[in-house]
Amino acid sequence: MSEPVHAIVTGGSSGIGAAVVAELLHRGRRVTVFDLQPPADPEVGYVRVDLTDVDEVAAAVAQAEQDAGVVTELVVSHGIRGAYVPALEMSPDALRRLYDVHVVGAFTVACEVTRRLAGRPASVVLISSTTAYRGWVNQADYGPAKAAVRQLTENLAIEWAPLGVRVNAVAPGHTRTAMVEDLIDSGYDVAAVEQRMPLGRLAAPEEMASSICMLLCDSTFVTGQCLPVDGGWTVVGK
Ligand SMILES: NC(=O)c1ccc[n+]([C@@H]2O[C@H](COP(=O)([O-])OP(=O)(O)OC[C@H]3O[C@@H](n4cnc5c(N)ncnc54)[C@H](O)[C@@H]3O)[C@@H](O)[C@H]2O)c1
Repeated sequence: MSEPVHAIVTGGSSGIGAAVVAELLHRGRRVTVFDLQPPADPEVGYVRVDLTDVDEVAAAVAQAEQDAGVVTELVVSHGIRGAYVPALEMSPDALRRLYDVHVVGAFTVACEVTRRLAGRPASVVLISSTTAYRGWVNQADYGPAKAAVRQLTENLAIEWAPLGVRVNAVAPGHTRTAMVEDLIDSGYDVAAVEQRMPLGRLAAPEEMASSICMLLCDSTFVTGQCLPVDGGWTVVGK
């Protein structure tokens, strides 16, 4: 019998990442979570790693592979929200921080996994956002970082297609996770969001996980794509 596929899920201890972990376990994968905090399920593999630290990421991938075999599936779902203030009140450091976490973090872990594949086919899914498609108020740090993740998907996809590595992304719309609950607590107008949303509600993390795992595991001829999973948000008014 062949060994189970080994997947890393960054940010797998909360929200969308945790839902991806559950879906991948259901699909029979071995899963290792990379996060600052441990996953709720102590049976799931876990390496504490700050995704902004290049050396920590390299050591974490090596440890995960030593524990559970070569990683051929990667979901990059760690992240932080932006400062959610007008651009004129935003510090350049806020932008640097968002790029570091979302863009440099995704780039580093994806390269580290791909470098170690030695010819094995693999699949990567990055998490962008609907803020990568349109202008949003108070999102001048988060939106451009997520647009960079969307672009990174295309760049890595064409470079790594000859290696047999597919790279895709999902662009979630508003999803009920700690990140969004935190925004709502700071006064974010969720009723206005639901009113504008064609499907009329926020998504559940499991609804993101099913699309992420479709791209990761099933869509064997799709690469370089970013799929909005947004209840129709990005096509309103088109
Ligand atoms: N929730 C939404 O509505 C929404 C919408 C669009 C995009 N996204 C994106 O989806 C991804 C997951 O978001 P979520 O809503 O599940 O958030 P979440 O806050 O529930 O989970 C994020 C996880 O990332 C981890 N993390 C943060 N910084 C880290 C770092 N430097 N190193 C390691 N781990 C780190 C946190 O500890 C946490 O467990 C993020 O990239 C987010 O930007 C979310």
